[in-house]
Amino acid sequence: MAKMWAGRTSGVTDKLCDDFNSSISFDSRMFEQDIKGSMAHAMMLGAKGIITEQEAETLVAGLKTVLDDLKEGKLAIDMDAEDIHMFVEQVLTERLGEVGKKLHTARSRNDQVALDLRMYLRDETDTIVRKLKELLFVLAKKAEEHKSDVMPGYTHMQRAQPVTLGHYLMAYAMMFVRDCERFVDTKKRINVSPIGCCALAGTTYETDRFFEAQKLGFESVCQNSLDGVSDRDFCVEFLSDCALVMTHLSRFCEELILWSSWEFRFVELSDAFTTGSSIMPQKKNPDMAELIRGKTGRVYGDLMGILTVLKGIPLAYNKDMQEDKEGVFDAVDTIKKCLDVFTPMTNGAVFKTEEMKKAAAKGFINATDLADYLVKKGLPFRTAYKISGSIVKKCIEENKTLETLTPEEYKSFDPAIGDDVYEAIDLTYCVQKRNSFGGTAPESVERQIAFIKNFLS
Ligand code: ARG
Repeated sequence: MAKMWAGRTSGVTDKLCDDFNSSISFDSRMFEQDIKGSMAHAMMLGAKGIITEQEAETLVAGLKTVLDDLKEGKLAIDMDAEDIHMFVEQVLTERLGEVGKKLHTARSRNDQVALDLRMYLRDETDTIVRKLKELLFVLAKKAEEHKSDVMPGYTHMQRAQPVTLGHYLMAYAMMFVRDCERFVDTKKRINVSPIGCCALAGTTYETDRFFEAQKLGFESVCQNSLDGVSDRDFCVEFLSDCALVMTHLSRFCEELILWSSWEFRFVELSDAFTTGSSIMPQKKNPDMAELIRGKTGRVYGDLMGILTVLKGIPLAYNKDMQEDKEGVFDAVDTIKKCLDVFTPMTNGAVFKTEEMKKAAAKGFINATDLADYLVKKGLPFRTAYKISGSIVKKCIEENKTLETLTPEEYKSFDPAIGDDVYEAIDLTYCVQKRNSFGGTAPESVERQIAFIKNFLS
């Protein structure tokens, strides 16, 4: 059968070409956006007298039947159609006859596809932000529970200084706050209407692009029609926001994987979010966390994909752009699934605070506090640092800890060291004292939780 666009050519294409050219297998997920866009377009055509009001009403009513039937499963999407835009128009014309053929006045599929994708993404952006906020809620709750629990903080994967688990969890929360903000900001550039740009140059009809944009809930209208049909920056931005969420989830997952090993034993993931081994009965594998870490790769791939598609295409629309959607859809599906799993997995995770505390007691993570103690006794920091280092060296050689050294041993390093040194190096005291803005002290963690709660409210 000849295509609807048969004109210069016969419109009869090779089956191989039809399959290769078709995007219906993936763009059909935007049927609702496509139909709503067409409704607004028909209304505009009627309001501007380009078609009669009566015709506009018939088109809108006809489009509504197509939408309802698709939603209720009464109408199946024809996978032989070229794309969702052609399919909707074809069904409408079958249902309405001649008037259906008027819908495509003063528009092109180039603006339709950009419109649909923008409408789709602005909704998905809201959904992702909502899911991120659910995660933030869980993190705030867990941080509240663990605001005073001491664990080792690391740099270079070496035990560095004591921190509180609440502080640690809040560090991730801050990343997810930025992620939310990025999506909200990106949405400003997604929510710009390309409808009415037509193929590339605008139109000779007296259309009202603002009317259509307003009917569809857009905040603004693309300023330049060439740009309007060929801009996919919003996809790049959206995918880059997704890639960063995945980076953050992946880092967090990496910690959960490490922490659930026997070497760490800092966390116990619930049975519901782990798997066993078919051969090793003792295993409890953090598969979900590993999968999220792994899926980060595909979302980065989606971002690289769109950037590469766009880099060489001249203005305005080129068919290369059909390659924009699968990566976007893949990223949307992936990030939503990852958040859906990650949030309850974190909520159900039991942090083994005793083990964390034990780990914090090894590794001399209070050596900085010992140096600070000496500074408070009047020594310059560099000298204090040196003395503290030699004390640690002695402990390592003699298999002792800072806590088990006797007052005499301390005094042999510097007579200024008194009995109050034990309090100064007590881990609970060490974290309590780090009450600088953003620091690890329970009080400071409280402030951070309040910041998150305020963000969520
Ligand atoms: N299926 C196409 C896409 O996804 C729709 C736009 C087609 N426009 C065109 N002039 N061939 O990009």
